[in-house]
Amino acid sequence: MLKRWFRHGYNKEWKQRFGVLEARPMAKQHAEEAMEAHGEIKSNLDEFNNRKEFKIYRWNPQYPNHKPFLHSFFLDLSKCGPMVLDALQKIKAEKDSSLSYRRSCREGICGSCGMNIDGANTVACLKPIDADTSKPTIITPLPHMFVIKDLVVDLTNFYQQYKSIEPWLKTRRSAEGGREFRQSPAERKKLDGLYECILCACCSTSCPPYWWNPEEFLGPAALLHAYRWISDSRDEFKKERLQAIAEDDTKLYRCRTVKNCTANCPKSLDPSSAIHHMKAMHLISRSNKVPNN
Ligand code: SF4
Ligand code: SF4
Ligand code: FES
Repeated sequence: MLKRWFRHGYNKEWKQRFGVLEARPMAKQHAEEAMEAHGEIKSNLDEFNNRKEFKIYRWNPQYPNHKPFLHSFFLDLSKCGPMVLDALQKIKAEKDSSLSYRRSCREGICGSCGMNIDGANTVACLKPIDADTSKPTIITPLPHMFVIKDLVVDLTNFYQQYKSIEPWLKTRRSAEGGREFRQSPAERKKLDGLYECILCACCSTSCPPYWWNPEEFLGPAALLHAYRWISDSRDEFKKERLQAIAEDDTKLYRCRTVKNCTANCPKSLDPSSAIHHMKAMHLISRSNKVPNN
């Protein structure tokens, strides 16, 4: 019934309230699922047991000899917000204040709350709670990362790799009249699908070559950002940027096109295709066919 409501009666209101998500199919799908799941929970309030189990990975560095374990918490979903981050907030506020995780914006902008939920990497604030109370939701840290505490992982290497691609505009001259460098609407449009990355690390930590070579291979997130600057009409160091990531066979070429990165991006971005484009550009640049602008 709710589905019907969404399809027919709700579309108008939806567009008015959440029109900003129109160009973000994954975020829109998440929000729709959350609204639907939350509606189901509320409407079933008297008929079903709304207690949902959350199994959360726990490890405390103060007790290094204690093995990590899955800690069960039960929440009444009729008294909880729709997203997994809402459940974590409620657990921390009401059940165990020692539970550690990162979060800030709670709307898919800051990239802090990346974690693995029911086997897939995503940001907890955009992931609707599964309304099926017969099975638990399992929450673990981003895979193949060093755990600092509970759901908090060490992202030092990840940020160093981001820094290594020099994520800023590089030019050989100053902008005319001391003003900003200008772009046509068409040039600006080329950055759509690239600039929206929130550095949540969901892609890199789902990538098998990154698990195996986390120091040599830059990983899909840093490479997507490298492509963002290579695609920028104002940047005058395209060849150098390409050369820097393709100079050996590890930083770029360790990508085996598994496409886990694209499948796990909560912002519907496509790092795999960005990597593919850079490999193609590098091959062409060897024959000096890539213009510097
Ligand atoms: S496409 Fe490349 S970067 Fe993306 S998951 Fe596969 S191997 Fe990793
Ligand atoms: S490309 Fe997507 S998954 Fe990867 S860091 Fe950016 S937003 Fe996160
Ligand atoms: S809290 Fe900012 S992306 Fe989830």
